[in-house]
Order: sequence, then structure tokens, then C-alpha cells
Amino acid sequence: MRYRAAVSDDLNPLFQLEQQLFSSENYPVSRRMFKYHLEHNFILLAENESQEIVGYILALRRKTWAKIYSLGVSSKYRGAGVGFVLLKEMLEYLHHQDKKRVVLEVRIDNKQAISLYAKCGFKKLKISPSFYKDGCDALIMQRLEK
Ligand SMILES: CC(C)(COP(=O)(O)OP(=O)(O)OC[C@H]1O[C@@H](n2cnc3c(N)ncnc32)[C@H](O)[C@@H]1OP(=O)(O)O)[C@@H](O)C(=O)NCCC(=O)NCCS
Repeated sequence: MRYRAAVSDDLNPLFQLEQQLFSSENYPVSRRMFKYHLEHNFILLAENESQEIVGYILALRRKTWAKIYSLGVSSKYRGAGVGFVLLKEMLEYLHHQDKKRVVLEVRIDNKQAISLYAKCGFKKLKISPSFYKDGCDALIMQRLEK
């Protein structure tokens, strides 16, 4: 597996992966918004031996903090550490950007993702009721560096 920063040419395959990963009630990133994020934020990709994009993580940069906006790994490649490496590398990057506070929101029923975030130092902050279109609550998590 190779990990690298996304560039503008990655727009179409990234958008295709997003459609596999997130149904409409989970607020998938649109093609237009990926274009915006490629220009203004930071996207890290996981690429297999055939140079297909099999995972990505997107972080929004704010002045003093950052938000993990999206993270996903293609179903065939899950459970092999790809999500963990993407998140770890992103946190490393944000550390060097001096973003000591990182937040995210995750479906309260997404046990795998919550477990991954907890493993990487995120703590439960609060619940945002009925955040998702199907009525599911969002869990807001935060990671603070001293
Ligand atoms: C969440 C997701 C990104 C994890 O990626 P992954 O590459 O499968 O995860 P990894 O193999 O790196 O596992 C890292 C940790 O995640 C958690 N995890 C992963 N799969 C899990 C499972 N089936 N059950 C419970 N925990 C799991 C564990 O904490 C695991 O650490 P461990 O191996 O020490 O137990 C992936 O399942 C995914 O893309 N899901 C669909 C999209 C999504 O829900 N994204 C998150 C939106 S907030």
C-alpha cells in the first residue's frame, strides 16, 4: 500500500470511491466539494499496487484547529490497518501544522470507526441528536494535544 497526498487529477476516482463508501443519508462529499477540498484542504490517499485509490482521509484546516471531515476504506481492504495508517499519518501532518485540537463527528452506531478514533486518542465530547438524515445521532469526538 502507498500513502500520498491527493492532487487535482485524483478527483474522479476519489468521487467514485466516495459513492461506494457513503449512502446519501450519510452526507457523501459531492464532486464539486471534492474539487474545493483538493484546493483548500488536505486529503491523504491509500493506493494499491495497481495504483487504484482504496482509501482516503480528508481534514479541514481551521486557524488553530482541524476537523477530520471524512475517512473511508474500500470494503475489500478493510481490517488490514489502512484506516489506522491514514488517520495516524493525518494526525502527524496536523501536529506539524500546529493543530493541537482535532474534532470529528461519527454515527453513534459506527462501532468500527469509533473504536479506531478511540485507539488514536479521540475522546467522546457530546452527542448531536438526529444529525443524520435517517435520524441517527452523531457522536462528536475530540483529540487534544498538550
Ligand atoms: C472505519 C474504517 C475507515 C476503518 O478502516 P479499516 O482500514 O478497516 O481499519 P483498520 O484495519 O485500520 O483498523 C483500525 C482499528 O479500527 C477498528 N476496527 C476496524 N475494523 C473493525 C471491526 N470490524 N470491528 C471493530 N473495530 C474495528 C479497531 O479499533 C481497529 O484497531 P485494532 O485492529 O487494533 O482492533 C472502515 O471500516 C470504513 O471505511 N468504513 C466505512 C466508512 C466509514 O464508516 N468511515 C468513518 C466515517 S466517520
